[in-house]
Amino acid sequence: MSSRIRFGGDYNPEQWPEEIWDEDVEIMRAAGVTTATVGVFSWSLLEPAPGEYDFGWLDRVLDRLHAGGIGVVLATATASPPAWLARRHPESLPVTIDGVRLAFGSRQQFSPSSSAYREHALRLVRRMAQRYGSHPALEMWHIGNEYGAHVPRSYDEESAAAFRAWLVARYGTIEELNRAWGTAFWSQHYASFDEVGVPSRTPTFPNPTMVLDFDRFSSDAMLALHRAEADILRELTPDVPITTNFMGPFKDADYWQWAEHVDIVSDDLYPDPADPRHHVLAAAARDLMRSLGGGKPWLLMEQAPSAVNWRPRNAPKPAGYYRALSLQALTRGADGILHFQWRQSKAGAEKFHSAMLPHGGTGTRVHREVRALGAELAELGDLAGAPVPAQVGILFDWDSWRAVEQDAVPAERDYLATVLDWYAGFLRRGVTVDFVRAGADTSGYRLVVAPLFHVADDAAVAELASVPARGDVLVVGAFSAVLDENLHVRLGGYLGGAEGPLQAALGVTVDEFAPLAAADTETAIGGTVTGVARDWQELVVVHDAAVLGSFGDGFAAGGAAITRRADESGGAGWYVATEPGEALRDDLVARWLVDAGIEPGFTRPEAFAETVVRAGRRLVVNHDDVTRELALTGGTVTVEARQAVILPAAGDDTVS
Ligand code: GLA
Repeated sequence: MSSRIRFGGDYNPEQWPEEIWDEDVEIMRAAGVTTATVGVFSWSLLEPAPGEYDFGWLDRVLDRLHAGGIGVVLATATASPPAWLARRHPESLPVTIDGVRLAFGSRQQFSPSSSAYREHALRLVRRMAQRYGSHPALEMWHIGNEYGAHVPRSYDEESAAAFRAWLVARYGTIEELNRAWGTAFWSQHYASFDEVGVPSRTPTFPNPTMVLDFDRFSSDAMLALHRAEADILRELTPDVPITTNFMGPFKDADYWQWAEHVDIVSDDLYPDPADPRHHVLAAAARDLMRSLGGGKPWLLMEQAPSAVNWRPRNAPKPAGYYRALSLQALTRGADGILHFQWRQSKAGAEKFHSAMLPHGGTGTRVHREVRALGAELAELGDLAGAPVPAQVGILFDWDSWRAVEQDAVPAERDYLATVLDWYAGFLRRGVTVDFVRAGADTSGYRLVVAPLFHVADDAAVAELASVPARGDVLVVGAFSAVLDENLHVRLGGYLGGAEGPLQAALGVTVDEFAPLAAADTETAIGGTVTGVARDWQELVVVHDAAVLGSFGDGFAAGGAAITRRADESGGAGWYVATEPGEALRDDLVARWLVDAGIEPGFTRPEAFAETVVRAGRRLVVNHDDVTRELALTGGTVTVEARQAVILPAAGDDTVS
């Protein structure tokens, strides 16, 4: 890894007359810009007619950037196909679940399974690699752009055919598909793969496994496009790293799979400064990106210096807060802070989206803050490449996400909000968390947490069950390990089924689910642990665990809500059969940290703050709108509203 932090952003010079390009480079240099992402939406100018290329302008852009000492992340330019593709190949346009074919005139208007799109995109990628593969400005390839942001799936005929091929590859025989999909139910049996369509509108609930498989297929279809581009780039430019920009926790693309096909994970994130919980999502997204790459540094590919333009109301970032969120990304493992975009557009749908160089020019507040950050990052090069140690692993699982949000479940659930609630408990104590893939080795973590881990295959169940036995602490949240990977119930009592090892590891079995009247309906918890929980109860049968909290009311009144089984190895297995409210969660997190021997970064829960350590520096951010005195372990620190401070990390920075 380089010993500098990349700084820069998307650069769209084609939106401007060429006279401005020299000025751009000059201002970039003055702002400390190291990196420009070029060509993301340039296809129609690079290939104005099929097979006719105009690379001259891009040559001049890259030459100028290089002369100015600015490295280039070069896009393959395939994110937005030109009008001629839509005209010649209307079948390449995506189709919605209601059969509406989406039109040209925006962006990303291609079906992930379109052969015409694929053929033309790959032809362009080959030309780009041939032309720029040895350009001295080229530092990285940026494949496509935000796969699935607007069109995560398409219901066109080519997609249906590709889905059938995907099913053949997954199941081999139609009998196996029938078994996995449980088609004996409601007379859904298929005699051959040819009878299988896409899960479009149905009279009532469609087959759940079919829906999940179509979600999986749609992620894979986009990933196949990414991989096809990557194959060409790896063939022609084997030494140039490749990436594609992820979008934080994004339901429609299983990034655990995607991350295997990039050299560096990169992320686009636009936390809403008007949302009081935005910092939780932001911190979690950074931690997820680091975790996707197995702990390797990642790249913040896009953020807004201030407001975005795509929410109903778009709040600017208060002065100093852009710096704070940038340092949040940096200390949570990013080796680059890039933006959308360099120069604010004059025309088009993003003219009111903030940029590093606003409409008002270099004298603006935003540009001053950009320059200041560029200068600060230039001094923080020693962070580049440094790991971010974590002792807590939280499971993050796309199949569970998709399954709990399907129809016909005990109650509507919001997977991401639930995981973020659990994550927030650790964030409030300044404890760094990695996210963990289902079934992955968790032996590096003292504390493993599995919230709403609803879909679990045998390997994942076995991995979780092994945590207490090896002397570590496992915490499992409600409605977990209920289904297998085909969404079949694990029979013999919930929580992994009678044959799985999880019931023994936790000492409990779940008999029934009892959602409360609404997600925010409260239920009292009493016992050793007291407080308020929400949303959900279960009827828990305890056979080998201490009951630390019981339901005080409702359907499960008197029954166990929070249990702990002490393993003879010294480890422990906790089960939480509800969704704890904030205060109760804080209490539980404190207990889990003690159980696992983890020292927190804050001595008390800090609701709107965070602290994290990377390479001997401790970042402390106050996300609140008022100045706060924050209770760091080792002393208090006062941080002004929406500001960040960097302190030397006291002592052993593996504990953060
Ligand atoms: C995404 C896209 C960019 C731009 C920004 C606006 O991140 O990749 O092209 O549209 O959103 O926030």
